[in-house]
Amino acid sequence: MGSVGVETNGMDAREPVVDISVAIAPNDAAAAPGIQKEIAAFPDDVSQDDEARLALLEKARDLVRALETPRETMIKHLWAQTGCIPAITACQRLGVFHELAAEGGTPKFAPAIAKKVKCDPNLLSRLMRHIAAMGYIKETAQDTYKGTNFSSSLTIPVIYGGYNCLPGAMLEACNKFHEYGEEKNWIEPNTIDDGPLQYAYHTKLNLFEHLHATGYGKDFGLHMGGYRQGRPSWMDPGFFPVQERLVEGFDSSSSSDPVMLVDIGGSHGHDVDEFRRKWPEVPGRLIVQDLPPVIGAIDELDAKIERMEYDFHTEQPVKGARTYYMHSVLHDWPNETCLSILSRIKEAMKPGYSRLLINENVIPSTGAYWETTALDMMMIVLLSSRERTKDQWSSLIEDEAGLKITKIWCPRNGVESIIEVEKVE
Ligand SMILES: C[S@@+](CC[C@H](N)C(=O)[O-])C[C@H]1O[C@@H](n2cnc3c(N)ncnc32)[C@H](O)[C@@H]1O
Repeated sequence: MGSVGVETNGMDAREPVVDISVAIAPNDAAAAPGIQKEIAAFPDDVSQDDEARLALLEKARDLVRALETPRETMIKHLWAQTGCIPAITACQRLGVFHELAAEGGTPKFAPAIAKKVKCDPNLLSRLMRHIAAMGYIKETAQDTYKGTNFSSSLTIPVIYGGYNCLPGAMLEACNKFHEYGEEKNWIEPNTIDDGPLQYAYHTKLNLFEHLHATGYGKDFGLHMGGYRQGRPSWMDPGFFPVQERLVEGFDSSSSSDPVMLVDIGGSHGHDVDEFRRKWPEVPGRLIVQDLPPVIGAIDELDAKIERMEYDFHTEQPVKGARTYYMHSVLHDWPNETCLSILSRIKEAMKPGYSRLLINENVIPSTGAYWETTALDMMMIVLLSSRERTKDQWSSLIEDEAGLKITKIWCPRNGVESIIEVEKVE
């Protein structure tokens, strides 16, 4: 069977397996009436019940997929969504979403906004027209638009940061992935300096170095802060028992200034700050560690949290802490690099006392959630790494790193788990 090659510009010798009529008929017309009935059975207002809201949203997506034709899906993927990203990024950078939200969010004439933000009015009208056609702002009259919750949220740094750094320094790795795959004979990427990102951007730098070199490091830190918004957090009731596992048994005499929690690769400190806010009475020091440019880019952080420049491949300066915490760090790296990171933590852990909390996805063997698989795709193209299954975590942490998984805590499918780890003597 011939392969889709760069030489042939993607043209393939293989014959289609269906007639073109399939591409212009609904994907699953037979399923649509059943899904419509399921949707009708939901309560009118699900806004206060997050599980019901998410379930209804999934059904609504099922309905769209059933009714949409393959041709429409193709145009949505390749033109509509792809075109929406530059339109949104441009409008955010120009300050258009602030303008839309001004004066109580009354409808605004696009050329008037263009004059204020110093943009060619024809260009801005076309950008806003597409964003409106996609439903992200509302068209109220010709060339006149009203903001939405989405457009207003694009005035918040943790929400807009990703719209800068992904197109600016990351998405080319997705765009060129097929070329990279061909060149490497479709071997799973596993080298940090020769993956799809390096191929696409002609660099040897890893993602984090590349982001800082291209000036997008700060936006990426913001994006990480946005990703975590609205998700169940490990320190909330019903998830990980902070009181029993961390607070009780905290040894305030273990050193002159004992540490409760050190967040390794903690970016701008959003996790440790959440811990401080939600657990204000816990004893001990709170520390955020990251590379110097990241620590240096922190704008605001409560004075109780210590900022520490640290490279996690070097000796961990904080010994015998009650909690070493890592969020979305190990998924960034292939096993070999994870082992280097884990070995530094293991050296610093006090057996029977210190806990390592790894806050990551644990992919189930079937029925993986789309946000998790999307992140896994990002891991492949940006970092030659992976989201891991339970078996892959056990193999890495126990068999290879020689630590012990005490328990995996997870409130529901699709939510990052806490893998609780200890050092045994
Ligand atoms: C995916 S981000 C996760 C950030 C944060 N833990 C969160 O969940 O929002 C990975 C973090 O690892 C940091 N990092 C990368 N290489 C590092 C290194 N050698 N030493 C310390 N931190 C590093 C990055 O700067 C980044 O902040």
